[in-house]
Amino acid sequence: MAVTREVILEGHIVDSGIMSKALDVIIVHNGQFKIVDFKIGQTNSDLSIARISYSAKSDSDLELITDRLLDLGGSIPSEPDLRTTIAKKAQSVAADFYSTTNHRTEVRIGGKWKVVGDQRMDAVIVVKGSKPVCTKLRDVKKGDRIVCGHSGIRVTPEFKHRDREDFAFMSNEVSSERKVEIAVRGIAKDIKNPDCKLVIVAGPVVIHTGGSEGLCKLLEKGHVSALLTGNALAVHDIEQSLYGTSLGIDTDTGVPVIEGHKNHMRAINAINTAGGIAKAVKKGVLKSGVMYTCVKHNVPFVLAGSLRDDGPLPETITDMNEAQEAYHKYLKGVDMVLMLSSMLHSIATGNMLPSWVKTICVDINPSVVTKLMDRGSSQALGVVTDVGLFLHLLSKKI
Ligand SMILES: NC(=O)c1ccc[n+]([C@@H]2O[C@H](COP(=O)([O-])OP(=O)(O)OC[C@H]3O[C@@H](n4cnc5c(N)ncnc54)[C@H](O)[C@@H]3O)[C@@H](O)[C@H]2O)c1
Repeated sequence: MAVTREVILEGHIVDSGIMSKALDVIIVHNGQFKIVDFKIGQTNSDLSIARISYSAKSDSDLELITDRLLDLGGSIPSEPDLRTTIAKKAQSVAADFYSTTNHRTEVRIGGKWKVVGDQRMDAVIVVKGSKPVCTKLRDVKKGDRIVCGHSGIRVTPEFKHRDREDFAFMSNEVSSERKVEIAVRGIAKDIKNPDCKLVIVAGPVVIHTGGSEGLCKLLEKGHVSALLTGNALAVHDIEQSLYGTSLGIDTDTGVPVIEGHKNHMRAINAINTAGGIAKAVKKGVLKSGVMYTCVKHNVPFVLAGSLRDDGPLPETITDMNEAQEAYHKYLKGVDMVLMLSSMLHSIATGNMLPSWVKTICVDINPSVVTKLMDRGSSQALGVVTDVGLFLHLLSKKI
């Protein structure tokens, strides 16, 4: 073993599984470890602290291990300040740039630890003056100071929720049908907390499954700070409001309506003719539904475009970078995100969120729920159920 380093892990590292993950990382990369010191917390709230020395056969293996240990919240003792390299051109950085996780991150500048702003995964850190900020590669400008290497970087992963009451429903598991009611109770309690800033991400299945009424109730009661969705939810919601169908199916009887397949195009035409959704509400063309309720209750919404969109509606943002920015704007400072039956928009949103935001993912497909929860957050809950049923249950508890 050619090279040796030391790392310190501190926090709820035993019951959050971080200690075992750290040792696995070293072994998987052909390294060897020695636990130099290990003090285990004695109670729920006590933190544990471990000092581990590790070695690897090559510098590159050591770098890989160090990278992963930092992601797990490790810090290198008597660490120097961070290292930065100037970007020589826009959207291009040095090859050893530090790629961020969604966990709380600090960097050491002039001997002081500073919290990185706008935390999100897969970003670079730009130091602006003395302020470190997560920045997407596409937004890097020539001359920006980019954090490179590992030194002077400290990551704090979220530990498991230790509030016992919350723990029952936020246990980072995919709920089966039996647990849906318990999950709904817990979610409703959080939503009713006036300090909880909630954003809803939703797909058109909400409308197809009769979830519109439940969603409208959440919007009317002022619980939702923004609705992030795509063209389809708005189209089918307006189709339902104008013609009583969603994708040509009568939403009361579940029976296809003759010529009903044309209704969503007629809905788009009606909104185009009115000059947009808000104008359609003002002119009395649109009198009910999710989009109507957003306009009436001043809940901002974003319709992000996709390749499969019909129309699209005038409000749909078809430039993908602009659509991402619009989502990001409403996710700033959010406490909880309810992701309802949209793999596309939920994954996009998950990528923009720091790991301490509570995310609730509702989908009928367990593998989608697992995929959405698998983003290193201890604050994620998966509910495998029909979204219409879920919204119906939730609307009764708020
Ligand atoms: N006519 C149109 O313009 C049109 C139509 C459809 C989709 N789109 C667009 O395509 C993009 C992707 O659409 P998407 O988000 O619907 O697709 P998606 O495939 O990303 O997500 C749909 C999700 O709904 C889940 N689901 C299906 N039935 C369910 C139920 N009963 N209860 C709970 N979950 C259920 C699926 O498992 C899936 O994960 C969006 O931007 C959308 O606006 C446009």
